[in-house]
Amino acid sequence: MLRRWMPLTMAMILLLVGAVACQKATTTEQSDTTEETMRMTTQEKMDIFLTRRSIRKYKPELPPQELLDKVLEAGTYAPSAMGKQSVTIVAVTNRAVRDQLSQLANKARGGDKDQFYGAPAVFVVLADKSLSSNYLQDGALVVGNMQNAAHALGLGTCWVNAAKGIFELEEGQALLKKWGLEGDLVGVACCIIGYPDESPESAPRKEHYVIHVD
Ligand SMILES: Cc1cc2nc3c(=O)[nH]c(=O)nc-3n(C[C@H](O)[C@H](O)[C@H](O)COP(=O)(O)O)c2cc1C
Repeated sequence: MLRRWMPLTMAMILLLVGAVACQKATTTEQSDTTEETMRMTTQEKMDIFLTRRSIRKYKPELPPQELLDKVLEAGTYAPSAMGKQSVTIVAVTNRAVRDQLSQLANKARGGDKDQFYGAPAVFVVLADKSLSSNYLQDGALVVGNMQNAAHALGLGTCWVNAAKGIFELEEGQALLKKWGLEGDLVGVACCIIGYPDESPESAPRKEHYVIHVD
């Protein structure tokens, strides 16, 4: 009886082992292919810097938090004078707060429009003037890092120059307090962010932008 079933059992075991091995090979192959797709050429990496543009038309949907967090993280790794990290970023994804900031920008700058070009989120970049005399430079580099990172991830951004005015207003000061922020904070930029709904061309670079000196 046992002898009768032995070849069949052996065949089934062999089939099972074969199937597992095959599955493993396919998975490895798939991950190799994904890695291959993820690998960027040097030119593709450079293109991130060359093709980023300020976006002034956005799709209404909010990008996933995971993507926004990647952009924020890139901001936190910007250089800062003497490593002082004088910048604080306030990530605003709440629609009511985003709209309030746009209203305050209208008040500070004059106007009665959506100051954020329909972008669903705003990263408010503030810098502590008491921490570094280079607070503005620190803030600008944070914005630049976030703009390039966002572009690399398929998101659009624009620097909206309303932050200084907003946080000089009483209402702006009250917001800082509400957010639990202390220090001698100055608004550097409102970096608006979302999925782009336009693809603007870059202006030609001016002549003699770079001069080489031996
Ligand atoms: C310090 C600074 C302030 C800016 N302020 C505004 C602004 O208030 N509104 C706006 O639409 N774009 C603003 N921009 C975006 C510039 O207009 C934009 O970077 C420039 O026209 C070049 O275009 P590009 O970013 O597509 O290369 C600002 C950029 C910088 C660096």
